[in-house]
Amino acid sequence: MNTPRKIEHQQTDRGYVPVYATGVVEQPWASYSHSEHAVWDTLFQRQRELLRGRACREFLDGVERFGLGDGGIPKFAELNTVLAAATGWQVVAVEGLLPDEVFFDHLANRRFPVSWWIRKPEQLDYLSEPDLFHDLFGHVPLLLNPVFADYMQAYGRGGMKAFKIGPEALMNLTRLYWYTVEFGLIDTAEGMRIYGAGIVSSKGESVYSLDSPSPNRLGFDIERVMNTRYRIDTYQQTYFVIDSFQQLFDATGPDFTPLYARLRQLPAHAAGDVLDGDRVFNRGDRAGWATDADS
Ligand SMILES: [Fe+2]
Repeated sequence: MNTPRKIEHQQTDRGYVPVYATGVVEQPWASYSHSEHAVWDTLFQRQRELLRGRACREFLDGVERFGLGDGGIPKFAELNTVLAAATGWQVVAVEGLLPDEVFFDHLANRRFPVSWWIRKPEQLDYLSEPDLFHDLFGHVPLLLNPVFADYMQAYGRGGMKAFKIGPEALMNLTRLYWYTVEFGLIDTAEGMRIYGAGIVSSKGESVYSLDSPSPNRLGFDIERVMNTRYRIDTYQQTYFVIDSFQQLFDATGPDFTPLYARLRQLPAHAAGDVLDGDRVFNRGDRAGWATDADS
């Protein structure tokens, strides 16, 4: 992720966006087409139905507080009024995936970058890179939760530090993001629930992550997570389950430098490994797992 991915979107059939791909842009709200608003509405309705009783309460509350289902693609400026009052975060529009350092700087300053463009109608079920629906519906509702909001900022600050330490540290930290912010589960009084953005924005994984006997569901441990590879091309083989957002935030309290040094001496675990010390909610039956090596 060292080069901007969306340079080609500077000039599109939706108009010219006169900035570099790493910069913040104005959300071109007036130029969204009817069909683009309809893509948002379709995806939103589908996920809202599916996520009742599956996503954690904090996420569902956030969706309602923002009024994300009021019809059409939300205006970032309106979301920012709500966000600013709740946790001081803001959403900024970007072209797409950002280089690590730029991304970390946004998070460290309580800005969440959201791709301004939305997938096409024929891409409802799968898209290889994050679009507006993933970034906004998936990530932004939880930014209204003060503890999660603080975790995201702590992650950004940790990223700035890891970037200076080196690529191995960055890889360890990226795994933490992957297994929490993107694909995290949370154990609640009502049962296991989803909070990861990669899951809540995916029709298939919203069901698979909770209901399938195939993946492992293991208790969260920061060192374990940072030392576990992951797959980007399939549903996850392992989900890590937190007890609370406070647990997540507290895990970012210590300086990670000694942890990175320790992890450099250890071999990484495969995405589907279950280890002796793991707290096992579900040991996956491995059905349908890819057999080639994971990244
Ligand atoms: Fe994401």
